[in-house]
Order: sequence, then structure tokens, then C-alpha cells
Amino acid sequence: MARLYLNESPFPPSPRVVEELARSGYVLNRYYDRELWNKLIKLLSHYAKLPREYVSPYPSSSEALCKLLRLARRERLRAVSLRPGFHAMKDFARVEDVELEYFDLELPSFELDVDKLLKTVDENTMLFIFNPNNPTSNVLIRDPSIVREIASRVRILVIDEAYYEFSGITFAPLVKELGNLVIVRTMSKAFCLAGARVGYVLASPEMIKRLDSLRIKFDIPIPSIAAAVAALQDLDHVKKVVEAIKVMRSRMARELEAMGLRVLPSATNFLFVEVGVRGTEVAAKLREKGIMVTAFDDPPSIQNFIRVSIGKEDENARFLRALREVLKEMGRLAN
Ligand SMILES: Cc1ncc(COP(=O)(O)O)c(C=O)c1O
Repeated sequence: MARLYLNESPFPPSPRVVEELARSGYVLNRYYDRELWNKLIKLLSHYAKLPREYVSPYPSSSEALCKLLRLARRERLRAVSLRPGFHAMKDFARVEDVELEYFDLELPSFELDVDKLLKTVDENTMLFIFNPNNPTSNVLIRDPSIVREIASRVRILVIDEAYYEFSGITFAPLVKELGNLVIVRTMSKAFCLAGARVGYVLASPEMIKRLDSLRIKFDIPIPSIAAAVAALQDLDHVKKVVEAIKVMRSRMARELEAMGLRVLPSATNFLFVEVGVRGTEVAAKLREKGIMVTAFDDPPSIQNFIRVSIGKEDENARFLRALREVLKEMGRLAN
């Protein structure tokens, strides 16, 4: 099976991660390792170019998003997400017992109309923006002045930068200036550590304290901390992975466009492709051919799309071949 449905990295993590993991086994009799934890904070602070008090690691960015939703519930805030946006937010909201509201992106570009957004939110809102967005893969905000403006109109602004290493766009420096801005990032994508479940939050020390008050002690396993430390010590590996994925992404986008399909401009490790027929049907047919991609029935505006992660060369080639066959079968492509 070609796993092109979860936006995982097709490459294994740095060899250093594997070495460090083995070493971490020797301290598994302990609940925590102070030295390792401090190393992680130091490396993240260096990586994010922010003082240590502005950094807080989480057992995945999903867990950080859940804690933010929990904070919204505790503080009786409206939680507003984007549509289409990160689909798992719906599950997180169910788990945290939060009634999530949605703000619709503009069609057909799936861009963010900031003026319209500002009319929808208020000083009681916790707003979630995914930049770049999943599943649409595009960048929604490029300009820090827009972040300042939105932050001034909501209680808490959360910007999820899961694909920062691919987009090169970050608003992390603004957390020093905006006490209500929370940046959420993950090590699951460019750092190739999805299975370690490590993410982190960048925010003002006060905001971090508020969020951390909702979590339990020792929630990141020692091997995951060790893996994250080792991965942060090998940024060359991240660079190579990101470059390789970007090259394959351009090639794949060109091939899809040559098939007459619309591909959204991607700043991530996946593509969002308009296939012209029901995406879930295409995904089911691709699965029969050993290719796993994602498609959504909700919202209706993305029913004719599939989301495909960039895999290894051979997986991408297999995907393209299989997609051509499926679309021919479905009468969407001529023979
Ligand atoms: C926008 C966005 N945020 C968060 C996540 C979750 O990442 P993690 O593995 O850290 O839970 C994903 C994963 O696909 C994502 O696309």
C-alpha cells in the first residue's frame, strides 16, 4: 500500500534519531529526564528564534489543539475554525465537548476573506487558522499586519503552522508583541517524526502557563523527547527532506495539470486536486489499486477533490498511473 493519505513524510527520520532512541531506553525506569527536557526546550527555542519561556512542547500538535479547545470551553469562548480546514478539529471538538463554529473560505480559490472574517469574529472568539491550510494546501496569510489586525479583534488567535518548513512562512516572532497569539507546530511532517507524537506551542509566557495548567505531568514519553532532540540536532536532514519533497511535488503537480486537472498552489507536503468527479469514489477506487489518498464529502465545495501526500518517487508514479486509469474508468479522462 502507498500511504499517501496522512501527509506523513515518506522518508525515515535522521539516523541520529534512531541512535538517540536506543540510548533513551536506558532511562525508561524514570518518569522524566530533566537534562533531556531542557535540551529540547533549548533546541526548540533556538529553532523558533524565541526565548525559552515562549516555547512549550506537547505530545503532538493535535494534543495542543485539544488543549486550546479545552481552554476555550473553560473560558467560555466561541471556538471558530475554517471550512474547509483541518478536519480532525471536528473530532478534537467532540472530545473536548466544544461546539465548533466554522468560517467558510472563498470559492473557488479557497482563500481567506479577512474583511468578511473580521465581521464574523468578536472579542469572545478563539479563532483557529491553518497556515498553510489543510486540506487545501495553500497559504492563507502572508502579511504580519493581517495577523496583528485579526489578533486585535479576537480573544485568542491560534495559527497552526504544521507545514512551516514547506511554506517558509511563520508568524512566530509576533508572539513577543501579541499576548493573545498562539502558534502551533508539529514535528510530524518535515522532521519525519509522526509516530513520536511531538509538537510545540509558541506563545507568551502567560498564555503558555494558561495552557499548561490544563495538562498532566510527564505527558511526552522520554523516547519521543529523545527523538525530537536528535531530530533538531540534524537540521540538514530536514532541509534535504523538504527539498526532495518540493521537487517531487512540482513534478507531480505538472503531471496532474497535464491530465487537465486543477491543482491548488501547495506550500505543504501534499496536493489538493480537483478531479471533476466524486473524490471519495476516486479514493475508494485508488485504494483497490493499492494507493491510499484522502477525500471529503463535507463541505460540499470539496466533494470533487482528492488530497494526496507526496510520497517516494515510485509511489508518486504508481499514484499517477492509477489515477489516470481510475479517471478513464469513470469517464473523466479520454483514453
Ligand atoms: C494543519 C495540521 N495541524 C495539525 C496536524 C496534526 O499533527 P500532529 O501529528 O502533530 O498531531 C496536522 C496533520 O496532518 C495538520 O495537517
